[in-house]
Amino acid sequence: MAFLTNEKLVIVGAGGMIGSNMVQSVLMLGLTPNICLYDIYEPGVHGVYDEMCHCAFPGANISYTVDPKEAFTGAKYIISSGGAPRKEGMTREDLLKGNCQIAADFGENIKKYCPDVKHVVVIFNPADVTALTALIHSGLKPNQLTSLAALDSTRLQQQLAQEFGVQQDKVTNAYTYGGHGEQMAVFASKALIDGKPLSELPLSDERWAEIKHMTTQGGSNIIKLRGRSSFQSPAYQAVKMIEGAMGGEPFKWPAGCYVNAFGFKNVMMAMPTVIDKDGVHFTEPEGTAEEMAALQASYEHLQKMRDEIISLGIIPAVEDWAKDNANL
Ligand SMILES: NC(=O)c1ccc[n+]([C@@H]2O[C@H](COP(=O)([O-])OP(=O)(O)OC[C@H]3O[C@@H](n4cnc5c(N)ncnc54)[C@H](O)[C@@H]3O)[C@@H](O)[C@H]2O)c1
Repeated sequence: MAFLTNEKLVIVGAGGMIGSNMVQSVLMLGLTPNICLYDIYEPGVHGVYDEMCHCAFPGANISYTVDPKEAFTGAKYIISSGGAPRKEGMTREDLLKGNCQIAADFGENIKKYCPDVKHVVVIFNPADVTALTALIHSGLKPNQLTSLAALDSTRLQQQLAQEFGVQQDKVTNAYTYGGHGEQMAVFASKALIDGKPLSELPLSDERWAEIKHMTTQGGSNIIKLRGRSSFQSPAYQAVKMIEGAMGGEPFKWPAGCYVNAFGFKNVMMAMPTVIDKDGVHFTEPEGTAEEMAALQASYEHLQKMRDEIISLGIIPAVEDWAKDNANL
């Protein structure tokens, strides 16, 4: 089987639901044969390793470990879903303290064992803040680390497609930016439905409010329906992000990235982005005054979460970030 690269990919949290699905997706898409599965729970990651061996993917060279040194040494790409998921009734923010501590250790392991890593994708929630924590502690350049934010936009796309009875990929230019929490900012003023501007189609204020609600609550709805946090869609989208970074098809859904521009400072949040072999590139979102106000509110919410982990001592005060990461 031909692979996109032979470089080492580490999947952190590989014993879990997203992690195990990512291993399978990477091999099915032919990204790299060299995959190391890392988790803190040995039976879980051992079981995933056995299952992947039972798939008998031609050319695969899979290993597993619970030792971070063994896992991270020589890694060129990393995707991490290694953290606690939320349960019914919890918001992503309820995971803040525990998962940000995990993110700090994750960043330290990158700095210690694989400072030459090319790209890292962070999934575990609250993803904008765990990713920021990992970036500060890792010492990486901002364009080398992104967080998974695409599902909010794919959920918006699904809702609009269902509303107008079109195939899902016929909905374009509809995205969410800002935080990957319920305070995300929905941008649909430039949306096209099978080529027609959304603004010219019949859509009542009530239906639009419902679509926005279904978008922001898309993750909670999966927990209600399936009794657990989503795992197939985050696994697939995160693997597509790393495919872009490996030099495959560029990834064009919004990704969380470090933003210090356009009036936003020192946060990670979803922007119009492309991930390619040079990392993540972002541009300024364009929207109506209402959309831009929603983005500003989302940014302020992210600043509050960032300041909370500063007060917990998980990351230093903003003015001291350069001591941990000279690229910031
Ligand atoms: N960004 C997104 O769009 C998005 C979407 C869905 C879920 N998530 C988040 O992804 C994370 C993982 O979800 P899941 O359903 O796979 O959970 P899971 O519980 O099935 O798997 C998590 C795995 O991480 C491991 N783990 C915990 N701490 C670790 C550490 N310090 N180092 C390495 N591994 C560790 C666990 O042992 C477990 O195997 C959760 O935080 C969830 O909220 C994010």
